[in-house]
Amino acid sequence: MCGITGYIGFREAYPVIIKGLQRLEYRGYDSAGVMLYDGKNINLAKTKGKVSDLQEKVKQEISNQGQIGLGHTRWATHGIPNDINSHPHVSQSGDLVIVHNGIIENYDSIKQELISRGYSFKSDTDTEVLINLIQEVKEKYQVKLGKAVQLALKQVIGAYAIAVFDKTKPDEIVVGRLGSPIAIGVGEDYKEFFVASDASPFIEYTKDAIYLEDEEMAIIKKGREVKVRKIKDDSEIDPDILELELNLEQIEKGGYEHFMLKEIHEQPRAITDTFRGRLLMDQAIIKMAGVEDNMKKFLNADRIIIVACGTSWHAGLVAEYIFEEFARIPVEVEYASEFRYRNPVITEKDVLIAISQSGETADTLAAIKLAKEKGAFVFGVCNVVGSSIARETHAGAYTHAGPEIGVASTKAFTTQITVLSLMALRLARAKGTMSSSVYRLHLQEMEMIPQKIEKLLAIDEQVKGIAKKYLLSTNCLYLGRGYNFPVALEGALKLKEISYIHAEGYPAAEMKHGPIALIDDRMPVVVIATNKGHYEKVVSNIQEIKSRNGKIIAVVTEGDTTVKDIADHTIEIPETEEAFSPLLTTIPLQLLSYHIAVMRDCNVDQPRNLAKSVTVE
Ligand code: M6R
Repeated sequence: MCGITGYIGFREAYPVIIKGLQRLEYRGYDSAGVMLYDGKNINLAKTKGKVSDLQEKVKQEISNQGQIGLGHTRWATHGIPNDINSHPHVSQSGDLVIVHNGIIENYDSIKQELISRGYSFKSDTDTEVLINLIQEVKEKYQVKLGKAVQLALKQVIGAYAIAVFDKTKPDEIVVGRLGSPIAIGVGEDYKEFFVASDASPFIEYTKDAIYLEDEEMAIIKKGREVKVRKIKDDSEIDPDILELELNLEQIEKGGYEHFMLKEIHEQPRAITDTFRGRLLMDQAIIKMAGVEDNMKKFLNADRIIIVACGTSWHAGLVAEYIFEEFARIPVEVEYASEFRYRNPVITEKDVLIAISQSGETADTLAAIKLAKEKGAFVFGVCNVVGSSIARETHAGAYTHAGPEIGVASTKAFTTQITVLSLMALRLARAKGTMSSSVYRLHLQEMEMIPQKIEKLLAIDEQVKGIAKKYLLSTNCLYLGRGYNFPVALEGALKLKEISYIHAEGYPAAEMKHGPIALIDDRMPVVVIATNKGHYEKVVSNIQEIKSRNGKIIAVVTEGDTTVKDIADHTIEIPETEEAFSPLLTTIPLQLLSYHIAVMRDCNVDQPRNLAKSVTVE
């Protein structure tokens, strides 16, 4: 995790760095820091807390002048969040400065070695060890910064995206990457360069970006050039300069109080964008390049294994139901973190689908590498274009949700389900497991989803009223069946991560095997009871809750009367095919957790202890 940013050029670096850090705060926000070089001195400010705290500290403590700078927003791994452990870190000589995202696993042995050579350390971080290792190498071999970074990184085990500055050679910044992302923004005529964990900090300055690959480094020289090299053997690489499609509007709040609310409301647009060029209603077909090009792999697959974490794992569970129902392909859904370490049986006839909003989740990335080693075909479903997972997979399909900034995933979830549903339908047609008339009906239903969500979003005020009644709850149960069991899990995750209320999701029928013991008049139970999804059975579960005085918040299909008579609150969703109902039932659950969190005065977009992009295992 952590966000890093840097600037070298002709502008004042401080405003560029601060704005960049604000955009990267989704990656971690327990401490922040900045280094500015004013042509003579290194000025450093670092603090526990957010970027806004850092701004205060800079005002009080340092000059904010200089056209070279590095910045960091932290999600602590080694060492508690405090001022000293915050980045940037400076080498013992006082000349070298580093910002780092990742973990140096062998930092302790390197530290002991450096201590034996007279180094001492101020912080508990692995990063301070790395910058001193670079200093040691530089002095020992009398080499320039670029070479010293390369030699030091060859000794390091772990993951990193780093940017390093050397006061004795102040016209360059050296960056390197292994396992954590780094983008270089290239200014006009190489007059300025930007460095960042993603492109958002520099999109208003340049659309030209270089994304480093793993085990690559770059030496960025002010006003001159950027040289990309392989860390392993120092060989030079001709980098691809990509043109970014991201625009400023996409990463701003656009009048909403929080990014999460904005992103909930963006879902109709995000799903429409995800359909674009794929759901071709005039021809009544689905076309997905990544699937078409690899159709044989999918059709010959013994099974599909889906790996993901968190919300993306929930999307994978929905996909399990859809793939098996539509395309009759056996599916297994695995937590990437478990899969990667349990010596799973994988063969060349397996297709592995990795789902990830950020495309940077360390466990998912490791699961992909493992599956590739064992010969499986690996398909990625990612949101962030050019992300590590998008590049590591053999083929894939982007979700086109646009940047998701709120830590709680919303539009990423519904667009993941959209992509996976399109894939399942396409494969069903190719395999002949769905008749053309049923296929056409499903396409029509899919196409209607964005406008149904648009209509559904009008429930916002009603959900706010329900939220008011339960904001002091300490526990909450979420129940669903079939396609909506994963939605119950997702609803519970949303509530706990942003409002800090303990919540559990269960298959409705499992309630009687344990969780029913929890039900009393203080327990709100959110039940998804759509009219086609084992409706009568779920109604029986609702009765069971009622007879134990639980408070029932039911999500039902419009026109429902049975559940309305029993539940304390009912929220209606438009009628749709049951397989696509998760795209609708999830909306009220997102809004419910959002409003409860706001009323509890929680930091909705940046919940405690979390980060958007989990690049550590
Ligand atoms: O970027 P990814 O989709 O790989 O991230 C996976 C999880 O970290 C993520 O979904 C997390 O659970 C969210 N905070 C949920 O809202």
